[in-house]
Amino acid sequence: MSTKEIDKAQKTIKKSNSKPSRGFFSSLNMDLALDLGTANTLIYARNKGVVLNEPSIVALNTKNEIIAVGHEAQLMHEKTHKNIRTVRPLKGGVIADFDIAEKMMREMIRSVMKTRWMGSVKKMIVAVPNGITAVERMAVRDSAENSGAKEVFLVEETIAAAVGVGLDVKEPMGNMIVDLGGGTTEIAIISLSGIVYSQSIRIGGERMNEEIVSFFRRKHNLLIGERSAEKIKHEIGSATPFDEELEMTTKGRNLVSGTPKTLLVNSKDVREAISEPLNACLEAIKKSLENTPPELSADVLDRGITLTGGGALLKNIDKLISESIDLPVHIAEDPLTTVARGTGIILENQEDYQSVLI
Ligand SMILES: Nc1ncnc2c1ncn2[C@@H]1O[C@H](COP(=O)(O)OP(=O)(O)OP(=O)(O)O)[C@@H](O)[C@H]1O
Ligand SMILES: [Mg+2]
Repeated sequence: MSTKEIDKAQKTIKKSNSKPSRGFFSSLNMDLALDLGTANTLIYARNKGVVLNEPSIVALNTKNEIIAVGHEAQLMHEKTHKNIRTVRPLKGGVIADFDIAEKMMREMIRSVMKTRWMGSVKKMIVAVPNGITAVERMAVRDSAENSGAKEVFLVEETIAAAVGVGLDVKEPMGNMIVDLGGGTTEIAIISLSGIVYSQSIRIGGERMNEEIVSFFRRKHNLLIGERSAEKIKHEIGSATPFDEELEMTTKGRNLVSGTPKTLLVNSKDVREAISEPLNACLEAIKKSLENTPPELSADVLDRGITLTGGGALLKNIDKLISESIDLPVHIAEDPLTTVARGTGIILENQEDYQSVLI
């Protein structure tokens, strides 16, 4: 073969390689599972796992254009000037501001898809709270479609959480899941791929933060920000007393003098501050147990209750619940990602989980 002929052959190979095939384009498409939470949004991509885990918050300019999303917007929260505002588009587990929720989802999906600039989202499964209305469900579906997904399915969060912790939701056996989220506490008894009984209260970790802020305002004349309250809860918050109580310092504004002030905070005060929302969660768990059919109650007695969601990380929460209802309580591994991982498993094995999709 002459050099000319070799050149010609190579050019032909190059040409045929550069011709895009249907397979090439379809490989750019992505199937995603989404846990759109009041506090955090997680995205799971098929064959990849959790690829995004960001706070559900955006920062907007005066033209209502997004200038930051997730962690970056969270850093700006409570530190903005008049030309920037931060917005959390979800309240109590549901979309409170459609336009901004859509923009946030679109930005988050775009950041996941950035390596596939020509690709698009083919299928999306979104986890939704059990307690939401048909109108609220439609809003989630519309937002997911408007943010680029071609085919949208919904799944109840507690079922996704049960799948995420590795429970076999299809068997005729009662499993009790308690998802302690930022905006909601969701309790469900699951058997045969369905929810036998569920309870959802719009009280969660964010209410605890509000109670911490109001406690320090009332008791110490100190105004602290939401982020300081969250930090206090993480570091020294607890559901039951410690053998040795904890302390930390926090900063805020003295409401009498108007000047900045540092205060030594102890875990007993924090426990008192969050006692009301914690009691509301406990009452909801007790009510769910009272409404559980007896055969399934027996299963729960054997297997115990599984806690998921960020609230499961509150110190001693398992102790408080197990002592109040006299049942074993397990904390899911990595409770902040359980729903996203469960929705991901459903996405990857859709034929097996057809009956749980809404
Ligand atoms: N270590 C911790 N101690 C106490 N609370 C925590 C801890 N870590 C996270 N949280 C709380 O968990 C909540 C977030 O949990 P999660 O991400 O499960 O909520 P979400 O899914 O966004 O909300 P929802 O399901 O209600 O819409 C926040 O309120 C946060 O303060
Ligand atoms: Mg959640």
